[in-house]
Amino acid sequence: MKFDTPATANPTDRMKVLGQPIDRVDGKLKTTGTAHYAYERSDVAPDAAYGYIVGSAIAKGRIESIDDADAKAAPGVLAIVTYKNAGTVAKAKAHTARMLAGPDVQHYDQAVAVVVAETFEQARAAAKLLRVNYARTAGNFDLDAVKASAAKPKDGNPDTAVGNFAGAFAKAAVKVDEQYTTPDQSHAMMEPHSTTAAWKGDKLTLWTSNQMINWAVRDMSETLGMPKENIHIMSPYVGGGFGSKLWIRSDAVMAALGSRAIGGRPVKLALARPQVMNNTTHRPATIQRLRIGAQEDGKITAIAHESWSGDLPGGGPETAPNATRLLYAGANRMTATRLAVLDLPEGNAMRAPGEAVGLLALEAAMDELAEKLKMDPVQLRIINDTQVDPEKPTRQFSQRDLVGCLKTGAERFGWNKRNPVPGQVRDGRWLVGMGMASAFRDNVTMKSGARVGIDKKGVVTVATDMTDIGTGSYTIIAQTAAEMMGVPVDKVIVLLGDSSFPASSGSGGQWGGNSSTAGVYAACMALRDSVARKLGFNSTDVVFEDGKVKSGNRSVSLSDAAGDAGLSAEDSIEFGDLTKTYAQATFGAHFVEVGVDSATGEIRVRRMSGAFAAGRILNPKSARSQVIGAMTMGVGAALMEDAIVDKRFGYFVNHDLAEYHVPAHADIPMQDVFFMDELDEKSSPMKAKGIGELGLCGVGAAIANAVYNACGVRIREYPLTLDKVIGKMA
Ligand code: MOS
Repeated sequence: MKFDTPATANPTDRMKVLGQPIDRVDGKLKTTGTAHYAYERSDVAPDAAYGYIVGSAIAKGRIESIDDADAKAAPGVLAIVTYKNAGTVAKAKAHTARMLAGPDVQHYDQAVAVVVAETFEQARAAAKLLRVNYARTAGNFDLDAVKASAAKPKDGNPDTAVGNFAGAFAKAAVKVDEQYTTPDQSHAMMEPHSTTAAWKGDKLTLWTSNQMINWAVRDMSETLGMPKENIHIMSPYVGGGFGSKLWIRSDAVMAALGSRAIGGRPVKLALARPQVMNNTTHRPATIQRLRIGAQEDGKITAIAHESWSGDLPGGGPETAPNATRLLYAGANRMTATRLAVLDLPEGNAMRAPGEAVGLLALEAAMDELAEKLKMDPVQLRIINDTQVDPEKPTRQFSQRDLVGCLKTGAERFGWNKRNPVPGQVRDGRWLVGMGMASAFRDNVTMKSGARVGIDKKGVVTVATDMTDIGTGSYTIIAQTAAEMMGVPVDKVIVLLGDSSFPASSGSGGQWGGNSSTAGVYAACMALRDSVARKLGFNSTDVVFEDGKVKSGNRSVSLSDAAGDAGLSAEDSIEFGDLTKTYAQATFGAHFVEVGVDSATGEIRVRRMSGAFAAGRILNPKSARSQVIGAMTMGVGAALMEDAIVDKRFGYFVNHDLAEYHVPAHADIPMQDVFFMDELDEKSSPMKAKGIGELGLCGVGAAIANAVYNACGVRIREYPLTLDKVIGKMA
C-alpha cells in the first residue's frame, strides 16, 4: 500500500481497541522471566559453548603478535579466533569500524579475539591468558583540542542559511551568544549486547538482541561475505537498545565466528558492561554555539546554531542543530554541523540523536534570552511559534500544536506560581526553582511490511520482523490487528523479530510505532479484502466487528470465513512524499521544579510535568511509559551522565553502571504526562506519530533552567554536577 495522500476515515477511527490503555500483551512473559532473551536460548540451543571477547588494550596502532599458547591450554577451551584464522571479516557499509581488529586497531576495546570454552568462567579466564603485543600510535581523543580541524561532513545537510544572519544579529536589540557543551554518553540499556550463534553447514542462525532485523541480516552478510538467504536472525525480546542495537555489533559477529570454529555448535556471547561502553557505540560529545537576536517585543530576528562533534574516520556527526532549523520563527538564520576526527570508540545514534543534545543548548539559550528580555519563557516561545518551516516558508507542518502544549503544560504544572527572580524561593535548606523548555523531535516514517492470517478458530496472527525493545510494539500491533479485524486483543497472536517474517520498519528514530502499525494496517486491509471476496461481499459496505464479517443483512463469523485452510495476506506500507511536502514533527513542553541544596549544591528534581502532541496515541499507557522513561533519561542527561575520556589513552574510564551514573528510583519524582488529543492524517493511516524519543528532547534544558531559577547559577557544561554549582552560589 502506498501512502501518498492524507488519510481519510478508516477502520482505525473506531478506537474500540486502539487508543485504549491496555496492559502489555507480553507483560506476563516479561515479569515471570519466561520471555527468552538472546543469551537465554537454551530452549533451542541447549548444548551451547560460551564465547568471551578480548578487546584491544590500545586505541590506535597495530597488533604485532598474538601468543595464544597459554590460553589454548587453559581448561575447557575449544577455540580461539583472531584476525589470523577468522577468514573474511569485512567492514559492513553501515559500520564505521570493523567488528574484529587486526592487524590494525581502530579503537580501544575493539574485538581482537573471541575465546570459546565449555563454560563462561573458563572462556573468561582463558581470555585473560591471551597475550597480545601492540605497537601503539598516537591518536586524537580530545574534542576541544581538534575542534579547529573539524570539517563539513559529506552527508546530510551540514549548512543551512536563510536571509542575512550576521547583519540581523548585529542589529538585534537583545542578544544571546553562548557556548554549551554536552559530554559523551552511553546508552546504558539493561540488557548488554548478546547473541547465541549456530551454524548448520553454510547456514547461520543468530538469536541476538537487535533493533533492526533486516539491517542486521544485511550487515552480517556484508561482514562475513555470505548470502543473506543463508542468515536467519531472531530477536523476539530485547532488553532496551536506545540506538546501541540499531546495527549488529561484535557480539553477533564474534559469536558467529566462534561457533564456526567449533563446527557449528551454538556459542553464547554477551558483552560485559565495560565492553558495552568501549567496544560498541556512544552518543558523541558536542560543543555548540547558540546566537539568538530578538526585538524588544521578543520576536526573534536572527538565530544561529553551530555544532562540533567527533568520530572515527568515515563516521558521522551529532546533528545537534536539527531542531533549531524548525522550532522557532526568525527571518535570518543559519546552522552549521562540523565533524572532527577522533580515535575514540565509534560515535553513533542514541535516543533522539541530534535533538536530544541540540535542545540542551537551544532551550537553555532561549531561557537566557527570556531573562534578558524580562519576558516569561513560555510567552517567548509562543511569540516565536511558526506554522511553516522557517527555512522554507512554503512548506507547512503536517500538524503543530506547540502552543497548545506550552499552555496546557503551564496550566497543569502551575507555572504562574513561578518567581522569575532567581534565588528567591526557599524550602528549608533547599533553594527551589522552576524551569521549562519546548520538546521537539522529527517524525520519521519507514517502509514496513507484515503478514496477517486468520485461522478456523477466528484467531488472528500477525507476523513481522518488527522488534519490541521494551517499547510496547507487541501490544500496539495486537491492538491494530484487533481493531482492523474486529476481534478482541486476546484473539490476536503477534510474532515479532524474525528475519523470516516480512521486513518491517524496525525500532529506531521513534519511527517504529507508527510505521510498523501502518504496515499491519496495510496487511489487514489486504486480508479484509480477501475475506470479503471469498464471501462474495461487496467490500465497500463490509464491517468487521465482534468476530464477524457483516455486509447488508448478512453476517458470517471470521472463523467460518477463514475455513479449515485459513486465510492470510501480506502487504507493506510505503511512504510517499508527504514527509517532504509537509514538515512532520512531534511537539511538547516540559516543566520542572528542582531543589538546590544551599550548602552542598546538590540538585534534586522535585516535580516534572509535560504536555505532548504526537498525533493519535495508540495506547496511552505504553505511550506514557515511553515518555516517563524518556523524561527519566533526561534527568540523567542533565545531572549525571558523563562518559569520561582518558585523554592520554583514548577510552571511557567510568565504564560500568557503578561509575557511569543514570537516575535510580530515588532520583525521580512524580511525573505528570499529558497528551494532546490529535490526529495527524498526513503521517500515516494510523494518524499517529513517533513518541519514543520526544519525551527526552528538551527536558534536560528545563532542568538547567530550573537550577538557574533556584540558585542563580547558569551552567552551560552538561551534566550539572554539584561541583559546578557550589562555588558559584551567592
Ligand atoms: Mo534510535 S537512537 O534511532 O534507537
